[in-house]
Amino acid sequence: MENDKLSLSNEEFKKLRNFVFQSIGVNLSEAKRALVVSRLSKHIRKKGLHSFTQYLKLVEETEHEKEKLFNLITTNVTNFFREEHHFQFLINEYVPSIIDKHSKTIRVWSAACSSGEEPYSIAMTLEGVLKKEKNIDYKILASDINTEMLHKAKTGIYRHEEVVGISYDHLKTFFKLGQGENKGLFKIKENVQKKIVFQQINLVGKERYPIKDKIDIIFCRNVFIYFSKETQRFLLERFYEQLSPEGILILGHSESIANNQDKWRLINKTIYKKI
Ligand SMILES: C[S@@+](CC[C@H](N)C(=O)[O-])C[C@H]1O[C@@H](n2cnc3c(N)ncnc32)[C@H](O)[C@@H]1O
Repeated sequence: MENDKLSLSNEEFKKLRNFVFQSIGVNLSEAKRALVVSRLSKHIRKKGLHSFTQYLKLVEETEHEKEKLFNLITTNVTNFFREEHHFQFLINEYVPSIIDKHSKTIRVWSAACSSGEEPYSIAMTLEGVLKKEKNIDYKILASDINTEMLHKAKTGIYRHEEVVGISYDHLKTFFKLGQGENKGLFKIKENVQKKIVFQQINLVGKERYPIKDKIDIIFCRNVFIYFSKETQRFLLERFYEQLSPEGILILGHSESIANNQDKWRLINKTIYKKI
C-alpha cells in the first residue's frame, strides 16, 4: 500500500547514500530514491521503527542490520549462461591455449556471483570441455556481498523458470529433478557443486581479499555499473594483483577498462588479459 511507505528526507537519503557508498561502493543515485523507499519501508516497519533516522541509527550500531541493508539494497539480476560468448571463449580459446602445457588447476573467481547461476554456468562449461583432459582440473571461488543470495547459491536449487537458459543436455547431465514436494525444482549435482566454494567477500572492503592463491580467470560481470569510476580503478588494481601472470578478467556487456593499455589487453568482447 502506498501509505505504508515511509518518507525519506533529503538529509536521510544523503546519510544512507554515504553509508552504502562507503561500505560496499554502490552508488545510489537520485534516480534510485523511490526504489530505496520501497525496498526498505516494509523492513523498517517490521522492526517496529517509524523513520529512516531511527533505522540508520540501528544500522550503524548492529552488524546484522548492516548485512540486511546490503541484502535489500543490492540488485541481483542474473541468469544461467548470461552473455553466452564468455562461455564460448572458455571452450574455444582459453582451454585449448593451456592444453598440452602441463598439469594444471584452473582457478576461477566469480566475484559477484549473486544466486549462483554464473559460477554453475562456468562449472558446467569446464566440466564439458575438460572431460577428456586428465591433467587439467578446475576450482571456482564464488563470492558476493549479499548473504541471502549466497545462501541460495549454496543450496544449488532452482525453479523451472530459472533454468530456461540451460540446454536440455546440460540439464540432464548436471541437475537432479526434484520429487514429491520438490517437484518442479532442479538441484545441481554434487560432483559439480563440490568444485565451488561460496564465500562472502566485499569487493571494496578495506582488508585484502581472503584469497591465498593467484587466480587465472576473474568473472566480475555486471557489478562495475554500480560503482564510481574511482572504485572501478581501485578494483582493477586489486584484480591485477590477484591474477596469475597472463590472467584473464571478464567484465559485463556494458563495462570496460579505459586508458589502461599498459596493464590490460582487450582480447575479446569485454575480456581482458593481464599484461
Ligand atoms: C547484477 S548482479 C550480477 C550477477 C552476475 N555477475 C551476472 O552478471 O549475472 C550484481 C551483484 O553484485 C553484488 N555486489 C554489489 N556490491 C558488491 C560488493 N561491494 N562486493 C561484492 N558483491 C557486490 C550484488 O549483491 C549482486 O549480486
